[in-house]
Amino acid sequence: MNPFKYGTVVADRYFIDREKEIAQIKDDLLNGINIILYAPRRFGKTSLVMQILSDLKESRVKTVYLDLFQVYSLESFIRLYASKVMEASGFSMKKAIKSLKSCIRGVIPSMGLDDDGKPVLSFSYDSKIPKEYSLLDVLDLPKKLKGKNERWVIVFDEFQEINRLDGEMIEKQFRSIFQFHNEIAYIFMGSKTHLMLNMFADKRRAFYNIGKLKKIDKISAQEMIAHMESEFKKGGFSFSRGIFEKVLSYTDNIPYYNQYLASQIWQSVKEEGREIDDKLVEKAVIQILDNQGDYYYTLLNQLTVYQRSVLHAFIREQENIYSKEYTQKHGLSSVSSTQRALKRLLELEIIEKIEDKYVFSDPFFPLYLQQRTFA
Ligand SMILES: Nc1ncnc2c1ncn2[C@@H]1O[C@H](COP(=O)(O)OP(=O)(O)O)[C@@H](O)[C@H]1O
Ligand SMILES: [Mg+2]
Repeated sequence: MNPFKYGTVVADRYFIDREKEIAQIKDDLLNGINIILYAPRRFGKTSLVMQILSDLKESRVKTVYLDLFQVYSLESFIRLYASKVMEASGFSMKKAIKSLKSCIRGVIPSMGLDDDGKPVLSFSYDSKIPKEYSLLDVLDLPKKLKGKNERWVIVFDEFQEINRLDGEMIEKQFRSIFQFHNEIAYIFMGSKTHLMLNMFADKRRAFYNIGKLKKIDKISAQEMIAHMESEFKKGGFSFSRGIFEKVLSYTDNIPYYNQYLASQIWQSVKEEGREIDDKLVEKAVIQILDNQGDYYYTLLNQLTVYQRSVLHAFIREQENIYSKEYTQKHGLSSVSSTQRALKRLLELEIIEKIEDKYVFSDPFFPLYLQQRTFA
């Protein structure tokens, strides 16, 4: 079985490292401190938090996890959040419906069935009651349900997405409720660092000072390499010296891409049954570019000719993009059009800003672009 896994939350034997982060975050949560956790996509935030929640559950903490990417309207937030909170409370369906009726204004709960015929909470809304009331009540629900001496930890993943709803109103409501939830610890986490920092580190915003900011870094190269070495050894494969340093240079040591490439190498080495060396790693990379080809092609087709020129310039040089020299050197037309192009590339998340530096969010994408250019 391939010991490398990517694209889903990893747990158990697939989950490595993070002991320090887990210990620190757990400690803060148990002390009732809210945490704002941020890192670019694919660094391993969700896996880390799931690990923490599963540890906490074992010590009888009630946990709620809500991914804001699943939320597309105020109603869907109210429904999803109420359901998750009820689930955590451990109430029977009957008791849940009764308590929702009495706790949340404007909501008419009932029992429905999901696609598999399993009973789920279903909601309709009383149109005479403003949605803001229902929102306030649902946000306060954990506190109302919380038993004496019970501890609760509540996670909002991809929290910056709340801005797609009526952001400011919601932020104010959240804040007005959470400040009275001393015995509940919240984690607000997100991938869009600048949006997260705007929300939580700006004095004028409702969430300012609501908790402790915590940045999640990549897993250290050393840990990653040790893990790869040990898994390939266990699999009975041999490898040339320093080969996993080379692997990490392809992936920028981003956890997701480490696992992706290692998984591909595993597949190749199984097929070919020889030592893992430069050639084999290169072949695995080409295989990945091939797998991703259709996706990359679609991505490229969304770009104008000028945006593509900027991308190609960006492969060659990532510094001082907005300078006259850069514009001239790479045959671009003007600084302002480059700014517009970059804005679009950021929107499409092809390029990301990480600590004031622009980088490709997918380290394989520039390889694909180069391959196409020189093919
Ligand atoms: N602790 C870890 N150990 C091993 N692989 C990890 C770890 N954290 C993340 N990964 C890899 O990165 C991928 C993305 O992780 P995820 O938790 O979804 O990141 P995020 O929530 O930051 O986008 C996982 O599918 C896995 O391949
Ligand atoms: Mg995630």
